[in-house]
Amino acid sequence: MKKNNERMLITGVSGLLGNNLAYYFKNKHEILGFYCSHPVSIAGIKTEKLDLLDKSSIKKVIQEFKPSIIIHCASLANVDQCENAPEITYKINVLSTKNIVEIIANKDITLVYISSDSVYDGVLGNFSETDNVNPLNCYGRTKYEGELEVLKEENCIILRTNFFGWNIQDKKSLGEWMLDELKAGRQIKGFKDAYFSSIYTFELAKVIDIAIQNQLSGVYNCGSADSCSKYEFSLKIADRFSFERTLIVPISIDDFPFKVKRGKNLSLNVSKLQKSLDYMLPTIDQSIDEFYKDYRCGLPKKIMQNRFETRKESSFLPYGRPKHR
Ligand SMILES: NC(=O)c1ccc[n+]([C@@H]2O[C@H](COP(=O)([O-])OP(=O)(O)OC[C@H]3O[C@@H](n4cnc5c(N)ncnc54)[C@H](OP(=O)(O)O)[C@@H]3O)[C@@H](O)[C@H]2O)c1
Repeated sequence: MKKNNERMLITGVSGLLGNNLAYYFKNKHEILGFYCSHPVSIAGIKTEKLDLLDKSSIKKVIQEFKPSIIIHCASLANVDQCENAPEITYKINVLSTKNIVEIIANKDITLVYISSDSVYDGVLGNFSETDNVNPLNCYGRTKYEGELEVLKEENCIILRTNFFGWNIQDKKSLGEWMLDELKAGRQIKGFKDAYFSSIYTFELAKVIDIAIQNQLSGVYNCGSADSCSKYEFSLKIADRFSFERTLIVPISIDDFPFKVKRGKNLSLNVSKLQKSLDYMLPTIDQSIDEFYKDYRCGLPKKIMQNRFETRKESSFLPYGRPKHR
C-alpha cells in the first residue's frame, strides 16, 4: 500500500487532465507539474516549464525532485492536429514517453500513463483489454506506441480512458462545450451513433489514487461503468443543469464532415479494473452529478484563475518540502 505525502510529478499540468489531477492531489502529495507553452501557477504546487523532448532536462529534474509517482498526461491530444503533424506527434506521444521510461528504469517509481479509448477501432464497442487494438488515426496509433514503451517497465499503470472536466486553457472538453452552448441558447448537434464511456476528471483522479495505493500494474480500461451516445450525453448534461432539451438535435456521426477517421463505438468494459481494485467506477450520470456539484461550487472559475500567471521560473529549486503542510 502506497502512503500519502509522496513526491508526485505530473506532466501536462497545463492540460485538462493534468491540471485537474494537480487540484485533486495537491493536499495529499508534494507535487511538481510540467507545462510547456502555457504557463500555469497553482497554489500549493510547484510548476515548471519543461519540453518533454529535452531528455537531459527531464533527467536532471527527476534526479533532483526524486518523485515516487509520475503521472504522464502530456501529449498531443487533438486528433486533427496529430493527423496533420505525424512527426511531431510521434515525438511528443511516443519519444517523450520513451524518454521518461528510460530515465526511471530500475528506480522505485510508479508510472501512470494516460492512454486513450482511441487505441480501439470503435466497431464492436464494449472493448476489453484482451480485444485487439486497431487505432484508426495517428493520435490513437501514437498513444498505443506510447503504451508499448511504458510496458518495458514493470512498475507501471496504463489507463485507456476518455474524460470530461474543467480546462485551464481556452479549449473545452465535451462537457464544458455542451454546457456553454446550452447556456448561450445555441443548438447542439449530438451524435446518436457515437458511443463512449467518458468519466469526470475528478472521478478519474479518485481511481488513479486508489490504483496507486494498491500498486496496480498493467493495462486497464478506465472510464464510466456504463456508456451512452454523445447525443444521450448532451441530454444528460441539459437535464442536470436544467436546460431545455429542445436545443439538442440528434445527428449521425457519418453526417459530420470530420477529416480524420474516428471510432464510432468506443464504449469500454471496465470489469478488469473494478475487480482488481474492488471498486465500482461511477456511471455517466454519477460523473455528471459530480461535474455539476463542482460547477455549483465555482471550481471552473478557481481553475481559470491560475492560468498564464506571470511567475518566476524555477524559483522552487532545490526541491525542499514546503514548511506548512
Ligand atoms: N481529453 C480526452 O478526453 C482524452 C481521452 C483519452 C485520452 N486522453 C489522454 O489524456 C492525456 C491528457 O489529455 P488532455 O485532454 O488533458 O490534454 P491537453 O489538455 O491537450 O493537454 C496536453 C498537455 O500536454 C502538454 N505538452 C504538449 N507537448 C508537450 C511537450 N513537448 N513538452 C511538455 N509538455 C507538453 C501541454 O503543455 P502546454 O499546453 O503547456 O504546451 C498540456 O499540458 C493525454 O495523454 C491524452 O492523450 C485524453
